[in-house]
Amino acid sequence: MVILGIETTCDETGAAVVERGADGRGRILSNVVLSQINDHAAFGGVVPEIAARAHVEALDHIIAKAMDDAEFSFPDLDGVAAAAGPGLIGGLIVGLTMAKAITLTHDKPLIAVNHLEAHALTARLTDATAFPYCLFLASGGHTQVLGVLGVGDYLRLGGTVDDAIGEAFDKTAKLLGLGYPGGPLVEKEATRGDPKRFSLPRPMAGRHDADFSLSGLKTALRLEAEKVAPLSDQDVADLCASFQQAVVDVVADRLRTGLKLFRSRVGMPTALVCAGGVAANQAIRKVLHRVAFEIGTTLVAPPPALCTDNGAMIAWAGAERLALGLTDGLDFAPRARWPLEEVRKPAAKHIGSAREA
Ligand code: KG4
Ligand code: ZN
Repeated sequence: MVILGIETTCDETGAAVVERGADGRGRILSNVVLSQINDHAAFGGVVPEIAARAHVEALDHIIAKAMDDAEFSFPDLDGVAAAAGPGLIGGLIVGLTMAKAITLTHDKPLIAVNHLEAHALTARLTDATAFPYCLFLASGGHTQVLGVLGVGDYLRLGGTVDDAIGEAFDKTAKLLGLGYPGGPLVEKEATRGDPKRFSLPRPMAGRHDADFSLSGLKTALRLEAEKVAPLSDQDVADLCASFQQAVVDVVADRLRTGLKLFRSRVGMPTALVCAGGVAANQAIRKVLHRVAFEIGTTLVAPPPALCTDNGAMIAWAGAERLALGLTDGLDFAPRARWPLEEVRKPAAKHIGSAREA
């Protein structure tokens, strides 16, 4: 089956055409992403109204390009998937309404995809990872450790009680005057900094759940920066390196606990999978490799372009759902807030096959 996927939850306008073979294997036929970073950079973060308007302006061109690149026309599609939440409501309305219009015009099924489920299932598109696996999802808006047991079947093992990890990177970059988005800029500065120069806390380390807390780390960093201000280039690099090292240590500790919880509740995972923009960070990837290796499993890390927001992951999640008979009506309303626990599961007869797939 061939699905068009549309992504408009935040500041990337994405459309992609993805094929799912009868054997459950995925193939990306096209994947077009337009980042709005330049529209938001001056504000140091995403401005919802600007994002929604930019999606309106770009989306039809992005979809046309995705269809062209894939050499497909609308009547040949098996379905259209759009991210229907969680995310910024203006963008969600744009993407979902467009998907509804295409399905209505061409009499195709609509699949309203949960953006987090799309991140969670990406490893099955890129690496055909079998269920059940443990997912570390870390982006600008989300930080979660999840058991991915099947399509629509998620076990929450931990999450952040305050800031998301990407948000902490972005706030650190803003504090140090580096620009937006902060993750790649902090990572770059960290490569020439001393990670031991500033002593920063490792919040939540040693706790028996897999929760995160990042806001104290951000405050501690600000206090250290104030002590040495005005900041030299080397101070900035050392602060970035110390911050990143603290995050890496926290991620290692929280994931070790998360995997322990996974094993006691589910059994051995087929893999540790990372997703979300933060998974592009090389130091974080390295420690995730180590943590996975320690328990005798491997890290599946999709390429960075598929870890950050894109249409291919939406199309793929749509294909996985359509294969299980899960479609949505034209009355499906976009949801700014949509926890994974509230995603519709396949009917019981399908759950076994989803777990084995
Ligand atoms: O998944 P994503 O593209 O968008 C959502 O937030 O949904 O993630 C973007 C986030 C931003 O906060 C960005 O700073 C962070 O991912 N990020 C990184 C890196 N690249 C992107 N954080 C740390 N290191 C990176 N190399
Ligand atoms: Zn995302």
